[in-house]
Amino acid sequence: MKKPAETPLEDLDEKAARAELARLAKAVTEADRAYYEADAPTMSDAEYDRLRARNAAIEALFPSLVRADSPSRRIGSAPAGGFRKLRHREPMLSLDNVFSPDAFADFLARARRFLGLDPAEALPLVAEPKIDGLSISLTYEQHLFTSGATRGDGIEGEDVTANLETLASLPRKLSGRAPALIEIRGEIFMSKEDFLALNAAQEKAGEKIFANPRNAAAGSLRQLDPSITASRRLSLFAYALGACSEKVADTHWHYLERLRGWGFAVNPLSRRLATDKEAAPFQEEITANRARLGYDIDGVVYKIDDLALQQRLGFVGRAPRWAVAWKFPAEQAVTQLEDILISVGRTGALTPVARLTPINVGGVLVSRATLHNEDEIERKEIRIGDWVTIQRAGDVIPQVLGPVLSRRPKGTKKFVFPDTCPVCGSHAVRETGEAVRRCTGGLTCPAQSVERLRHFVSRPAFDIEGLGEKTIAEFYADRLIQGPADIFALPRHEAEIAKREGWGELSARNLSRAIAARRRIALPRFIFALGIRRIGEANARLLARHYGSYHRFKAAMKAAVDPLSEERSSLDSILGIGPAIAEELAAFFAEPRNLAALAALEKEITIEDEAPISGGDSPLAGQTIVFTGTLSSMTRAEAKARAEALGAKVTDSVSRTTNLVVVGAEAGSKARKAEELGVKTISEEDWRQLAGLSAEA
Ligand code: IVH
Repeated sequence: MKKPAETPLEDLDEKAARAELARLAKAVTEADRAYYEADAPTMSDAEYDRLRARNAAIEALFPSLVRADSPSRRIGSAPAGGFRKLRHREPMLSLDNVFSPDAFADFLARARRFLGLDPAEALPLVAEPKIDGLSISLTYEQHLFTSGATRGDGIEGEDVTANLETLASLPRKLSGRAPALIEIRGEIFMSKEDFLALNAAQEKAGEKIFANPRNAAAGSLRQLDPSITASRRLSLFAYALGACSEKVADTHWHYLERLRGWGFAVNPLSRRLATDKEAAPFQEEITANRARLGYDIDGVVYKIDDLALQQRLGFVGRAPRWAVAWKFPAEQAVTQLEDILISVGRTGALTPVARLTPINVGGVLVSRATLHNEDEIERKEIRIGDWVTIQRAGDVIPQVLGPVLSRRPKGTKKFVFPDTCPVCGSHAVRETGEAVRRCTGGLTCPAQSVERLRHFVSRPAFDIEGLGEKTIAEFYADRLIQGPADIFALPRHEAEIAKREGWGELSARNLSRAIAARRRIALPRFIFALGIRRIGEANARLLARHYGSYHRFKAAMKAAVDPLSEERSSLDSILGIGPAIAEELAAFFAEPRNLAALAALEKEITIEDEAPISGGDSPLAGQTIVFTGTLSSMTRAEAKARAEALGAKVTDSVSRTTNLVVVGAEAGSKARKAEELGVKTISEEDWRQLAGLSAEA
């Protein structure tokens, strides 16, 4: 049967485009389902790619029509036993934690400093109990609930729309006036009562018992069969805003009111604090009432109330500068230290790990805890066999605080820290001034290689599902993978993998697909995946945005190996990088084996260029800017953050590659250097105009 001709893109009007996007979303969804779930493809790969490309082209012409279930936002498809991925329109962030009044005061001082506010000026806040559940993003279009996703890595999460539709507390339709498009964020949780009832029923039925309400909520929402979710009692509190097609409020407090008006439950204990002085008493009040609440909370979230200030403050890394979680004190317990093991990390660091008699600490069974390093064991006089106090705070690794000396049993043993690597036998050395001892085996140490591979496939890096720690260790031992590029050769050994113990055709095929889905990767993820010391996600992002493409990044790093090169000094001067990090990068690129591993990887994968996150059409996109002198309308930190949000790079020193120098009051040598080199200089007024900021009030 011949298909009806498709309308050429240039002839589409809004109405036709809307209909066409709906048709494409449906066609791609059906094709995905046929391919992944029924294993019976209904169209050729070329036709499938063409549909997706047409969808993307129409979306580029009509950005406001992008559907919640658009193929461009669904990434790949769910293999048997998984959820489809859904891209958030605005990233979902997490929060920085503080544990003391001092650390809380530091948070406020940083925000004030960033904004250039007087420390005495009152800063209204909203305080909300921090629910211990799982965060969720809910999309509403024309008032209707169209999709919902878990947080995932913050950029894309799991599409749990069908399961959310079974929740009684989730409004299907927003009441009253509402924007055409809005992403509403909140927490899905299970009350203590519902948790106990669920576990009792599970036990009776001989099913899995959940460790705590959080796990029960997550397990109930992430069910492939929505009828199971429907049978569980899940609750929802809404508390944050993602993407939105129009302004909905001036303050966070007002936004919470609007949420209530639309039909959401908002935590009734939320409170507007006229000044930050009210935070500590509120924290005490909630701490005192915590046990009486019907649900688990693990702290209080404090948010700067004024949404315009929130906007100016923006984010650093994964956390907003305008909110913080003040967590309750960590939970402690006493148990016995059975042994001390040494684990070898990705960079060769030997970390002592306590093997403990398992004990429940605040709802989680703990059997391992970190002892930090050899000096700590010495300083705290910890011996094998001791009763020790352990502590678990939030999501961090549990730690051993120290021995309970009054209970020291007879026959405890002092621990002798090894001076060789327990895995490869190479010398383990401690450099002067360093707390950690490191294995010198480098690329020849299997433990380091396996850890590097684990890091490479981890969620913030290549995010390859189905390649866990155990599998990597086994594949490494059997020489199926030696370096990162070998991972991409695994699909060529699918038949062989299927025959391995614990595998089978389906799981081998799922692995091949998970790998195939990651042959394209964003530059920041790629740089992070390399596992270079001191290059975490934030630094990887800085580098990616600075260099823009893998090709330019690699060329610059190879040149920067020479400490006297221009590339090294420009690397040093990227704000946030600095000499110590530059040194690590240079060390990595000086190693021929690393370059060989990169060359092998290049043959297997495509590394996407890094476009500025937003402001692609801003005159500042792609420009390298230096700020000098004192700005009167904003702090240097805010100016830098603003420039970066518009796609510019901000560096510390002026060179021939600088495009623009913003000259504030009492500028000195940098302004002179700009003149000398013929680099364009502009005033603060001009900068505000370029940055799209209204003229100074
Ligand atoms: S606001 C950008 N408010 O805490 C701000 N988060 O540690 C994003 N959470 O991922 C979060 N209660 O799952 C916010 N009242 C509340 C919250 C809350 C619980 C969770 C949320 C988030 C995590 C960060």
